[in-house]
Amino acid sequence: MTANATKRQFLRSVGGAAGAAAVYRAMDALGMLGPGEAQASALDLPPGSGAGKSVVVLGAGVSGMAAAYELSKAGYGCTVLEATARAGGRNLTARAGDAIEETDSRQTVCYDDADHLYANLGPARIPYHHRTVLGYCREFGVDLEVFTNDNRAALFHNEGRFGGRPVAARRVMTDLRGYIAELLAKAVNREALDDVLGAEDKERILDMLVRFGALEEKDLLYKGSNRGGYRDAPNAGLLAGEANDPLDFGELLRADFWRYKLHFSHFLNQNPTLFQPVGGMDAIPRAFEARVGRSIRYSSPVREIRKTSGGVRVVHADGPGGDLKAVEADFAVCAVPATVLKDIPNDFSPETRAAIEGVEFVEAVKVGFQARRRFWEEDAAIYGGISWTDRDITQIWYPSQGYHRAKGVVMGAYIWDKEPGLRFTAMSPADRLDAAVAEGERLHPGYGKEMECGVSRAWLKAPFQKGGWPRGYEPPEALRRPDGAIHFAGDQVTALPGWQEGAVLAAHAAVDAIHRRAAGSGG
Ligand code: PHE
Repeated sequence: MTANATKRQFLRSVGGAAGAAAVYRAMDALGMLGPGEAQASALDLPPGSGAGKSVVVLGAGVSGMAAAYELSKAGYGCTVLEATARAGGRNLTARAGDAIEETDSRQTVCYDDADHLYANLGPARIPYHHRTVLGYCREFGVDLEVFTNDNRAALFHNEGRFGGRPVAARRVMTDLRGYIAELLAKAVNREALDDVLGAEDKERILDMLVRFGALEEKDLLYKGSNRGGYRDAPNAGLLAGEANDPLDFGELLRADFWRYKLHFSHFLNQNPTLFQPVGGMDAIPRAFEARVGRSIRYSSPVREIRKTSGGVRVVHADGPGGDLKAVEADFAVCAVPATVLKDIPNDFSPETRAAIEGVEFVEAVKVGFQARRRFWEEDAAIYGGISWTDRDITQIWYPSQGYHRAKGVVMGAYIWDKEPGLRFTAMSPADRLDAAVAEGERLHPGYGKEMECGVSRAWLKAPFQKGGWPRGYEPPEALRRPDGAIHFAGDQVTALPGWQEGAVLAAHAAVDAIHRRAAGSGG
């Protein structure tokens, strides 16, 4: 038996005894929510094991559809209630002519009709170790390409540092590294670390620091390096060129770069390699929809969630402003975002209600511009990746598709901090574009003239979403176990909020728990 099969068996026995919450803790302990092992959560319910059992799934986002897909494969009768007219939830790709609706505005996507001109306004990157969602991509034939998350040619910008001029990431990285190496070399040579370093290690460390930080061999000082690029020649070609002078150390310390932006790609979930589906992130929900679409009732917002003696009863509207209908089922998988769920009349326990009330969603905002010219590639040799600024827009993302083609869609803002998020959310779509252009100008002079048009998404104002993703990493205990026959799903019940991997893992946990209960009741 494979190690993974043994783990699965172990998790089944844990789940049988104590429910979904215990499975999560056990998965955590086994490292299954971490890299490399997530694939172990692939479900293998016996075909036909759900025959005669019914499940109502609330929400046709990635989590809800993954649950419906797995349940249907095992023979359960599934009905999926989707509040909006489209499947996918927060997985939203904007293309020519699409409508982007918010509670107080409606935008029509202005991009040209071309396969590389789209904006992933929701999820946009998949790290290599998100094995469950990547497993679905493999199973469904969703083509992937590399998403460039880290680019040394991209820019760091602080309004109050370096005269407000952006500096290339390669300079910041090289110089900060050099200065740190120089300081450590000094400490070693001044015998400050003799209590922890033996004589041989001291020699080795000095040797390492010369290479690590590009120090001068003779005096162990950092005087700049061509690792950070050249001052007058774009690179050393026929002439050697002159390396940039190192950036001022004090200014580097005062800038915000090192707080998280500089080591962003060191975070496990931001580690290269990352991927994007070719043609847009919504290839994933479309693949699910192709398989479970027949079970989805669109434009059917949930109005009530009730417990019954035999399971659940869910009341929903039949189309916008339509009559009320009810679905009765043995179980429910509820993947409605907590921000929306809290306002739906329900029979939940006080603990469940308190947990739902307590989840706070990030005020995420994205702005996607269509540029008439790929100036970031032509003028600055930036191919994909992210520039960072301390202005509200926070980030500029350059597209990882369509290199060298005529136009491109640039993410002109990706905001996830509360204050700037709320500021942009409050603006009209037109004002968001103006504000994002004004801030983008600080990084790329002439930016505004290059932009033909744009669209924005403030997730707080997205109907039936009301937010980006749960803030923080501790999902409430009450949402990790069922309340009656209602099992909760979505990234909000996992330690991976804001990731599709969380969404599909949550679906698997709910399906697995339902399967064990159904089997236990002799079904
Ligand atoms: N997965 C999203 C992203 O990479 C949102 C997210 C950001 C989730 C940071 C957690 C932490 O941008």
